[in-house]
Amino acid sequence: DSQPRVFSAMQPTADSLHLGNYLGALRQWVALQEDYDAIYAVVDLHALTVAPDPEALRRRSRITAAQYLAAGVDPERSMLFLQSHVPEHAELAWVLGCLTGFGEASRMTQFKDKSAKQGAEGTTVGLFTYPVLMAADILLYDAQLVPVGEDQRQHLELSRNLAQRLNSRFGDIVTVPEPYIVKDTAKIQDLAEPTAKMSKSGNPSGLIELMDTDKVIAKRIKSAVTDAETEIRYDRENKPGVSNLLAIHSAISGTSIAELEAEFSDKMYGHLKVAVAEVVLDAVAPIRERVTDLMAHPGELDEILAEGARRARVIAGETLARVYDAVGL
Ligand code: ADP
Ligand code: NA
Repeated sequence: DSQPRVFSAMQPTADSLHLGNYLGALRQWVALQEDYDAIYAVVDLHALTVAPDPEALRRRSRITAAQYLAAGVDPERSMLFLQSHVPEHAELAWVLGCLTGFGEASRMTQFKDKSAKQGAEGTTVGLFTYPVLMAADILLYDAQLVPVGEDQRQHLELSRNLAQRLNSRFGDIVTVPEPYIVKDTAKIQDLAEPTAKMSKSGNPSGLIELMDTDKVIAKRIKSAVTDAETEIRYDRENKPGVSNLLAIHSAISGTSIAELEAEFSDKMYGHLKVAVAEVVLDAVAPIRERVTDLMAHPGELDEILAEGARRARVIAGETLARVYDAVGL
């Protein structure tokens, strides 16, 4: 395949992805399949850092993969697999860990934030070395482009540094990845607290989950926090709630923000919410139905994941052999 390679992944840490994951990541992945040789993983080893219940982890790994497929990731064109099915991820992570400075890893702001909340005894070494495993995920496939949110920028920078370090110490053996940062309008805010980003760890009433019922989704949009004015105008600073609704509509319908502002210029917030609920349900309901169908045929889903892992291991195995050879293993 002569197309440039893209790698991206999500952790299986919830029973449903949310609208932010879909518009900010998954939908972009689907589009990238056209012009890139795409590799998409469910990074279940990363999810161990939050000490999940084993049954929940198993279920979430599969339902996350099912959501990738339902949203349009095509296993014929792209590779789709569970990280733990490709042991080279953990193996390369060890080598990279031996090239990472303790101080360098200690500067990762996400680790600092999370470990500060959990305290030294509640913080695992796995959480500390998480960005090193992420570097292994990316470098194993010689990915040129990595779609990441703003919060992963520092981790991607570490991946780049480790790739450059490997290359300068041992010869040209891996590709140095570039970040692919998604457009601002693909950033979805919490419906109940529109100054914060929509997140699985946020307030449930601010969340739209792909696996929610139509009724729950419609209700959450109807209750979305707006402001005391009446004007429908895109202004993230002063009108975060209304702007978020416009951004959601625009991201799904493809109608520009300016056109939406014109269309709703003499309408009320209630009208906008009804229109947003309509486009969201049109986008989400078919995905939810396909996920339900995939989960009802676990054998087929497992087969797709096994085949994805088999193909991924061909590439990962070659990279690991190159690295092992270079470092003297
Ligand atoms: P969460 O914040 O819910 O824990 P993750 O950090 O697991 O989500 O993110 C998974 C992917 O979804 C990442 O690519 C991230 O950039 C994207 N993403 C997460 N939340 C949003 C959001 N509110 N808007 C746009 N993209 C998002
Ligand atoms: Na492709």
